Amino acid sequence: MLLSRFVSILTASLTFLFIMSLCGLLLLAHMATFKFASANFPTDAQVRVVNDTPQWSQNVSSCPGYNLESLHETSHGLTAQLNLAGAPCNAFSEDIANLTIQVTYETQTRLHVNIFDTAAQQFTLPPTYFDRPSMSDSDSASFLNSSDLKFNYDPSPFAFWISRRSAPNSPPLFDTRLTSLPITPIPPFIDPNDSRTAFDGFQLVFERQYLQLTSVLPTDANIYGLGEVVSSSGFRRDVSQNGTIQTLWARDDADPVNENIYGSHSVYLEHRFNETSHTSQSHGVFLSSAAGSDIFLATPPSTNKSLVQYRLLGGTLDLYFFSGPSPKTVIEQYGEVAGLPAWQPMWGFGFHLCRWGYSNISDVKEQVENMRAANVPLEVMWNDIDLYHSYRDFTSDPISYPGDEMRTFIRELASNGQHYIPIVDAAINTLANSTDVYDPYTQGIEQNVFIKNPDNSTYIGQVWPGYTVFPDWFSSNAAQWWAEALQNWTNAGIEFSGIWLDMNEASSFCDGSCGSGADLSNTSVPVSLPGNPGDLVVDYPEGYNSTISGPSGNITVNGTLTFNAKQVSLSPSTKRGLLSKRGLGSANGSNIDLNDPPYAIHNGFGPLSTRTLATNATHSGGYVELDVHNIFGYMEERATNLALRQVHPGQRPFIISRSTFPSSGKWTGHWLGDNYSNWTYMAYSIQGVLQFQLFQIPMVGADTCGFQGNTDEELCNRWMQLSAFTPFYRNHNQRGALSQEPYRWESVATASRTAIAIRYSLLPYWYTLFANASTHGTPPVRALFFEFPDEPELFAVDRQFMVGSDILVTPVLTPNVSTVDGIFPGRGQVTWRDWYTHVIVNATAGGYTTLDAPLGHINVHVRSGAAILLHAQPGYTTNETRQGPYSLLISLATDGSAYGTAYIDDGITLPEENGHGIASRTLKFVAHGNGVTVESTGAFKVVQSLAQVTVLGLPNAPRSVSADGKDVQRSAWQYDAGVQRLIISEQVIDLNDGSVIRWQ
Ligand code: NOJ
Repeated sequence: MLLSRFVSILTASLTFLFIMSLCGLLLLAHMATFKFASANFPTDAQVRVVNDTPQWSQNVSSCPGYNLESLHETSHGLTAQLNLAGAPCNAFSEDIANLTIQVTYETQTRLHVNIFDTAAQQFTLPPTYFDRPSMSDSDSASFLNSSDLKFNYDPSPFAFWISRRSAPNSPPLFDTRLTSLPITPIPPFIDPNDSRTAFDGFQLVFERQYLQLTSVLPTDANIYGLGEVVSSSGFRRDVSQNGTIQTLWARDDADPVNENIYGSHSVYLEHRFNETSHTSQSHGVFLSSAAGSDIFLATPPSTNKSLVQYRLLGGTLDLYFFSGPSPKTVIEQYGEVAGLPAWQPMWGFGFHLCRWGYSNISDVKEQVENMRAANVPLEVMWNDIDLYHSYRDFTSDPISYPGDEMRTFIRELASNGQHYIPIVDAAINTLANSTDVYDPYTQGIEQNVFIKNPDNSTYIGQVWPGYTVFPDWFSSNAAQWWAEALQNWTNAGIEFSGIWLDMNEASSFCDGSCGSGADLSNTSVPVSLPGNPGDLVVDYPEGYNSTISGPSGNITVNGTLTFNAKQVSLSPSTKRGLLSKRGLGSANGSNIDLNDPPYAIHNGFGPLSTRTLATNATHSGGYVELDVHNIFGYMEERATNLALRQVHPGQRPFIISRSTFPSSGKWTGHWLGDNYSNWTYMAYSIQGVLQFQLFQIPMVGADTCGFQGNTDEELCNRWMQLSAFTPFYRNHNQRGALSQEPYRWESVATASRTAIAIRYSLLPYWYTLFANASTHGTPPVRALFFEFPDEPELFAVDRQFMVGSDILVTPVLTPNVSTVDGIFPGRGQVTWRDWYTHVIVNATAGGYTTLDAPLGHINVHVRSGAAILLHAQPGYTTNETRQGPYSLLISLATDGSAYGTAYIDDGITLPEENGHGIASRTLKFVAHGNGVTVESTGAFKVVQSLAQVTVLGLPNAPRSVSADGKDVQRSAWQYDAGVQRLIISEQVIDLNDGSVIRWQ
């Protein structure tokens, strides 16, 4: 395993090195984010479960599988018993002899297959917190005989497959019948030294601590999703021989490649292309489970089959299948189960500025002033943990960030239409001594809201402030306690508009309940902070060159030469050496081993409890951390969202969180965590944004200009432009790294102004895309094949992306270049017009076209057939921008048609709050022949009028132009034959009424 990861990391690095070598540049190795202090923390002082344990066979090949019996057909599907078909194999714990299978045709496009232990002892997601759509026998419509999908099974040994009803003879979409194939056990092949990469059986295994389910995939299957991950194979996952091991175990690690990180999402989309008919169909598979897991995508030798194999540490097999048949509809259908994304306030789409290391309020104010002075739009100012007093949540430092001054500062921001967001860490500091005062802790203890040790004492770990406790979101008082803490913080001056949730995997820096019995007066930060002596930030982007001046060379920031800051060289991360074979071969566990489950998933840190809560920690209701670890972030996001509704009644909560889970999008957005200031990670940010569209958490973005290491002018310039086209747009930087606010370099300021102006012009478009996400689950940002599913050359493209269906973004992702190659979908049937010049790209159909891309220029193209509502005058803030008039951009298709919609409301009110939805207005633009009609419906009054209409693709100059039957005077329209463009200006068209604009 280690070897394979090494090989895949090496392959990725070599590929990049190749690119770099063209420039004669060197790829820099990644460094660890934080050096963990080697202080001797007390280790897990808590009771381990020690019982007599049978020796687990660790051998799946002897598992008997199940027989299907007692079949009962219902109007919506079937239920049956699955009984163990022979002697238990006890591979990694005790086999569960009796299972129930429930198959429900829930909708035309969704089939639910739930396999669970009949005794219902295994963990399942509590419905109180996870509302999945229900289907009862009383539901009148039955999709049993009409659904797009069909459940088929062999009773003995039990295996099932899902086919499309319309294509019963095509390979099934999901097929567990490997049981009947003569496959002999395959020795470890992904990593010969890792016995867990052996495949020794494909039958259904359902044990207390080990579940296994395998399905056949087409060779070279196009699989997307499963994460959260920074994947070396890109947005499309690798299913080749050694393929992919996607581990799901929420983990605070700085964006390592191909390892488990912050979020756990067991949903994938598969896209199948038919070479004969040249058509494609997509489907989706979602396993609703919180269990720590390994999901293998591989083509084991001698099978000639590609497989997906799920290996779970517990729980049940609660599967949903979505029939699509397009990529977008699969994602929408997943949204129906996971829940649709939270409505976002308009200001959330503005530009956000953050860093770790603003030492005081003056420092922060200076950023706001400098941004204004440089005329680079700043919408939201953020604070990291520097804000805190002694690193404690819900505080502000009385000397460096006094509450009253903060209140004044935040109100000043508000009066300028700007916002403020502070960080909230998951852990709560304990009291250092008897005179210490810290209300969130004291109140929490009184209200019994913290996670416990198995002996019912409070679990105490260690994070930034020293010893900490962790909210138990299952405790009945937790949500209200959390809401009060947030309210009190606001009352104390931190009048936030939104909240940033960090460290919620949950991260802890010591092993186990290290504070139990320890000296809590030790309040020192338990890790070495980046930027401190001995932990200086010394990395630069690939290609950074001290000997040349210019974008990648000697750059002076505020009078300081930024190169040659290298003083101490950190040893490369040893983290990747920590993949241990924990648990395997152990004979001394118990029937349930909470600490070391007998099957060791490929957690990047090895033991499950490393740098997080110990898996034997307990939660209210009797849950143990082992079962609920992956949902800590989700539960916190839900509680925070509900709390913000109390703090700001009626308003849309804006939350950005690190650890996510299926359904998190209902409550929060996400940033892609601790990336690196280098070109490789800038490129990775695109696959990250695309992944989270699939996960139904569309408000997502990367730390722009990079978090770890020092950025440079060229990288920051390109990245500020790229992120302007991703939903969440924040520049964030590590403590100790060189400053990277966009005003720091003139070229970056200019590039940012350009890109932000486009972003703010496009706000009505973004807002509409997000309204569609919140109402239908339609992904706002799209891989190219989402829009052009029948063009196989697009299936692996993730260095370009689309915003909605009409905007194609082709960023520069390498240093020292002034051109970029881009593919233009549509194979010549679609024309793409340059955003800036409106000139049609002379694109190679189905191939790559080289585009000019000097520094400061990002290629953006508009699809033919699009009608996009824009703000005519992008301002300094989103609010200012919205005060100005609208304009309409129409890019006619060759047949003279174009279509688009726009959703408008007040930009802040929660739609569901008053029960019947807020007032909104929907506009439809339909262009054909020689005019465009605007259809307007809804109760929201749009104050700003439509001032300008730009029509691209008009072959001939019109003789006259009219708006709502009245001639537009000649001076108010111009025609440019070169770009076939008509611009109609000086209009005051009321968008609350329908209108017709004609040219002839
Ligand atoms: C880890 C987060 O991922 C990072 O964004 C933040 O700056 C640090 N914690 C410090 O709070």
